[in-house]
Amino acid sequence: MDQKIFIKTFGCQMNEYDSNRIYDTLKKIGYNKTEKYEDADCYLLNTCHIRDKAKEKVYHEIGRVKKSFKLKSKPLIIVAGCVAQAENEEMLKREPYIDLVVGPQSYHKINDIILNYKNKNEKIEETEFDVVSKFEYLSKIKNKSKKISSFLTIQEGCDKFCHFCVVPYTRGPEYSRPFNQILDEAKNLIDNGTKEIFLLGQNVNAYNYKDLRLSNLILEIEKLQGVERIRYTTSHPKDMTEDLIEVYKYSKKLMPLVHLPVQSGSDKVLKLMNRKHNIKTYLETVYKLKKINSKIEFSSDFIIAYPGENEKDFEDTINLINEIKFINSFSFIFSPRPGTVASKLDTLDKKKSLLRLETVQKILFKNQIEMNKSIENKIINVLVENRTDDKTKLFGRSEYMTSVVFYGSDDLIGKIVKVKILKSNQNTLFGTIIDSTHQKVA
Ligand code: SAM
Ligand code: SF4
Ligand code: F3S
Repeated sequence: MDQKIFIKTFGCQMNEYDSNRIYDTLKKIGYNKTEKYEDADCYLLNTCHIRDKAKEKVYHEIGRVKKSFKLKSKPLIIVAGCVAQAENEEMLKREPYIDLVVGPQSYHKINDIILNYKNKNEKIEETEFDVVSKFEYLSKIKNKSKKISSFLTIQEGCDKFCHFCVVPYTRGPEYSRPFNQILDEAKNLIDNGTKEIFLLGQNVNAYNYKDLRLSNLILEIEKLQGVERIRYTTSHPKDMTEDLIEVYKYSKKLMPLVHLPVQSGSDKVLKLMNRKHNIKTYLETVYKLKKINSKIEFSSDFIIAYPGENEKDFEDTINLINEIKFINSFSFIFSPRPGTVASKLDTLDKKKSLLRLETVQKILFKNQIEMNKSIENKIINVLVENRTDDKTKLFGRSEYMTSVVFYGSDDLIGKIVKVKILKSNQNTLFGTIIDSTHQKVA
């Protein structure tokens, strides 16, 4: 059997990792990846439930697929990811075009689920939390990512229950993968050509396998021959432990950008959110890290207009942003999520919320533009990842994850090169390579 599978992925990096692992898994039963969804025999939607009308977006997407396959034979339709977990059999009832619903902790069963469906034509939803079996199974299937920068999930789920967040319900309790299982996957990725390993978890710095922490993992991975850069996301400020902070003293490969979501600059709002950290401890962590390694910069996530946020609380958020000068951040208006504590609270006036979001983003973007401007005329290290979409230039990333575009030849892909930055905008640095004979300004 040689069939084609197309996966459309929404949401966070963990969903991206999962989609790649699903491709690896389905290969075992004869499904090969296609980039063209019109060619698909199996169309899988890997969904995200974090904000807004997540559920409606999924039905909308299914409607679109249904329309475009009107004159062709229907592909097998699978809904996976966090909406699948939250909605489970409801989805099969509401949209008969969907064949299978599979939650994020059941991907190890996906081949059997598909084969069973083909044999018996029986629609099912599989949303058990069986994360141990999932990773045991996945560790036996090689991760085929051939990217220069590859994701590697080390931890899943969350026990923190911030009042606004669906993750503890969609991904289940915190689980840390066995240390050696992760190292084996890292070696495998490096053998495939990976130069940057991006460790992932909904609470990545809560990683704890038999008292081995994220710090141990970073120091072990950096010993592996061939790996050039290590990153991790997403961290909770409460789990930024001394051992992890110390790693920034010794590690040669851990990148100096720390993504540390604070959500709000107001202690009152943080308490209402059940965040379990306050601004004093957050700032202590930031300054400890800066003291250990002055190159470190920070990025963050913000929830604006959380129920109970007043003008003073909002000002506290602005003040924090002005103090830390995050170089890259995500900010969203609070979105009530079904089943969470905050879903029962009164939301703020829509106009006021939007105005606050615009105000915050203006400052965040200004900081980002200024940071990029300050790099102009400087020479930085860039890990070259691939060609730009139009194929004319090379695309890479700075140590701070900023996109860098410049002219160069294909043999530089996978290498760290020195680039002199000549121009910049909010999201991209443009430069010229200085250690190659091929110099041309991008
Ligand atoms: N575990 C991370 C932490 O503790 O910060 C966050 C993971 S969550 C997948 C990513 C981001 O989504 C959060 O940092 C938060 O800013 C945002 N988010 C989560 N729930 C939200 C909601 N109900 N409304 C708006 N933004 C939300
Ligand atoms: Fe969600 Fe992060 Fe809070 Fe967990 S710690 S509930 S993933 S925001
Ligand atoms: Fe979305 Fe689930 Fe990730 S809700 S952000 S895909 S953990």
